[in-house]
Formats: sequence, structure tokens, C-alpha cells
Amino acid sequence: MNETNQTDIRTWFMDFTEKYRDKNGTMHPVLMLKYDHSMRVATDSRDIARELGWSAGDIAIAETIGLLHDVSRFPQFAEYKTFLDHRSFDHGERGYQIIAKSDILSGLCESEQNQILNSVRYHNKKTIDPGMNSEELRFVNLIRDADKLDILSIVYETIKNNRHKDYPEILSHVDPDGPATPELIAEIRKCGHGSYENVRSMTDMNLMRMTWVYNINYMPALQRLAKRGHLDQLDETMIKNPDVEELLAKARNFVADKLSKENPIKT
Ligand SMILES: [Fe+2]
Repeated sequence: MNETNQTDIRTWFMDFTEKYRDKNGTMHPVLMLKYDHSMRVATDSRDIARELGWSAGDIAIAETIGLLHDVSRFPQFAEYKTFLDHRSFDHGERGYQIIAKSDILSGLCESEQNQILNSVRYHNKKTIDPGMNSEELRFVNLIRDADKLDILSIVYETIKNNRHKDYPEILSHVDPDGPATPELIAEIRKCGHGSYENVRSMTDMNLMRMTWVYNINYMPALQRLAKRGHLDQLDETMIKNPDVEELLAKARNFVADKLSKENPIKT
């Protein structure tokens, strides 16, 4: 991928999102949030790829994936007024289709096209097929990390600025003031992650996000997570009890241990 390819794709993304502005040129605030999210994830993806020592072409692909990964959020909200995939469509799958149907990747070789398409397609899946081609997997792993980092920032900013009641889309319609659900605590304690069926409160959502630390793929992403204070922010926005404290302490120890080893988890 060269600079011209990248500029053309960026122009296409700008034109695509432009359609979701009203007559006065205003975009709905939650779509504006997605637009800004796409920009930040693109930047983080580029910077993480650079720190990993990837080639200039691969850095450009990583940045492009960051920009495009949530492209289907715009039609999703316009059509369904939700970002909940189970009430609309799988947004990774729809993003893949939108990009595949366009001709924006036509200037790229087949392997680059597949790296972009499959990263968009699988960025939101619960698990990734471990048999995925390793040349694609490294990009999928990167977008999953960069996406998580920015979601952690968005959620914290939304809660801190008391916008969670205005933006139920961002916090998935959960009870903002409810306590941690015991079933979720038990699940996380047992297997390190929880399931959305046991999520009832914002504290539960934040516990789920806390478990993301166990699934960060690249060391520069984990370093950013620590440096940006995401665990402290989650701590600040949860209703605490001894179980929550214990899970938080475990997550903190896990991150501290990984960082102290200073070796890439995956390269
Ligand atoms: Fe997404």
C-alpha cells in the first residue's frame, strides 16, 4: 500500500460519512463520536504498528484498518437508531460487505485487500479462528487492541462528564447505578472473562472491560493501557465491593507482571 492508495481510501471514508450529516452539516452526536473514534483508532493503530517495527506499507494498512473498522456504524445508526448488533446487524460483517462492494481496495494486491477486509470483519468477534492466516491475524490482533483502548477512553469520558444518561448507546442500556452482579463476578473469577447475559449494571460493563487486559495482543497497546490509566478509570467508575476490589487487584497485577517482562506478547 502506498501513500496514494491511503489518501484515496481516506477520501472515500470522508465522502461516505459526509452522507450522514443533515442539511445544516451537523452529524448526530453519537455518529460524531464514532467518527472521532475512527480517527483516534487509526492514529493508535499506526503508532503501535510503528513501535512494533512493521514496514511502512504495513503501518499504512494498520492505519487504514483503524479508519475503516467501524464504517458500518453510520448506516447502522441511521437505519436502526442503535449500535447494538443483536438489534440490527453484525457491524464487522456489514463493514466487510460495504468495503468489498466498493472499489476502494482495487489498487491493492490481494493479500493487502484480505488484511483490510478480514480485520474489519473480525474486529468485533468474540473469538478469532486460531487457524487464520498469520499475515491477516497480526492486523486483526492490532485493530482489536487499538479499538479496545479507545473504547476505554470513550466510556470513561462519557461517565465522567455525566453523559451516560444521554448516550445509552455507548453504555448499552444498562442500569447506571446498579451494583456488580454476583454471577458475573463468579464467571470472571473462574475463567477470566464474563458473558453479556450476566451484565446488568454499568459496573458489570466495566468489569467486562476490565477483563480486556487479559486479551491485549501487543505490548505497545498494553503499555498505552497502563500509561493512560484505564484500570484506574474503571476503578473510579465502578460500585465497589470486596469481590470487585479483588478482581481489579488481579487485573492490575497481571498488567504489572506483563509490563515488567517487557517482551511482546505476540509479534
Ligand atoms: Fe467496532
